[in-house]
Amino acid sequence: MGKQKRLGILTSGGDCPGLNTVIRAVVSHATLTYNWEVLGIPYATQGLLQRRTMVLNVHGLDLHGIDPLLSTGGTILGAMNKGDTLAQAEEIISGYQELGLDALIAVGGDGSLSLLHQLAQRGSWKLVAVPKTIDNDVALTTLSVGFDTAINTIADALYRLTFTAASHDRVMVVEVMGREAGHLALHSGIVGGADVILIPEIPYSIDQVCHKISELRDKWKRKFAIVVVAEGAKTLNGESRYYTDSCGQVRLRGIGEYIADQITNFVGSEVEVRVTVLGHVQRGGLPSALDRFMATVFGKAAVDLIAQENYSQMVAWQNGQVVSVPLNEVIAKSPVSVDPKGFVVQTARSLGIYLGNLKPDEQSTAILTCAESQQ
Ligand code: F6P
Repeated sequence: MGKQKRLGILTSGGDCPGLNTVIRAVVSHATLTYNWEVLGIPYATQGLLQRRTMVLNVHGLDLHGIDPLLSTGGTILGAMNKGDTLAQAEEIISGYQELGLDALIAVGGDGSLSLLHQLAQRGSWKLVAVPKTIDNDVALTTLSVGFDTAINTIADALYRLTFTAASHDRVMVVEVMGREAGHLALHSGIVGGADVILIPEIPYSIDQVCHKISELRDKWKRKFAIVVVAEGAKTLNGESRYYTDSCGQVRLRGIGEYIADQITNFVGSEVEVRVTVLGHVQRGGLPSALDRFMATVFGKAAVDLIAQENYSQMVAWQNGQVVSVPLNEVIAKSPVSVDPKGFVVQTARSLGIYLGNLKPDEQSTAILTCAESQQ
């Protein structure tokens, strides 16, 4: 066993289900296997700035009873999703040294990992990252903690809405998160039985959306419809719906209402349209079994990377295994968009779902690629 280390852990950016499970895995492995000390840093860079810590030891975890950290949502360390600035960089950087940290585990999405990587480079921190985001747009990992739970939450909402939509012959427009990447809308729309899925990567035509709804009624005699729209979806002219808040921040809002109004204008008042904005419900709740699994294997792997003194890495899920990937590559390649020609989009189209208009060069016949045979 190597020298005793003092490890910091923080959760950065928007919260998501599974963060506490990562913390639990890190604390258990670091303390039980390596006998290291683990300090939680509350509110990420704010905690470093204010030199605040939370002692996390294995006695605080209930490994022999019902351990709440295994399956509670949110993060016991707190999170911040404000546009962090580098203005106080020096103060934040020296927080790492003043707290006597030997290494830091950052659980974050692409934006916060990019910021923390910059700070780590400037301050010679020993940083290891764990990917988390309901948007699942962090590069070089097929899964980030939080995505699976959010898909399940949306799919459950779509399932519930389908029954009430069918009872009233209504069109239900469901607005989901996804500023730049539409993975959430796409995956949940497929498993939730959507008729239309609108995502930021593929511009939509409102005429085509309305045409799809009319077609369902006229051709298939189905009087209800489910439209899933990501908050960052754009028209063919590149227009999205947003507003500027009182602090001058531009926020996406209103696409659901907009689409609903357009449908009403097109199909007329005999078709009732209702809007559900799922909002932060998508970020709450208990982590799914898959998210708990990902959080646990990622947490252990992050601690192992520190034991191997392999820093500036992110743990990732590739081909059914946990691997480590260079953090600078992750940042350079993130956020990862939905591939308009990819198999998932083509699968949705094969189900008759309207998914926006492809450009001529994006037309693709999705074919299965054969995995190389393994001896
Ligand atoms: O990045 C994750 C995310 O959930 C986005 O999909 C969404 O636009 C954003 O966070 C919402 O952030 P906030 O909690 O700051 O409103």
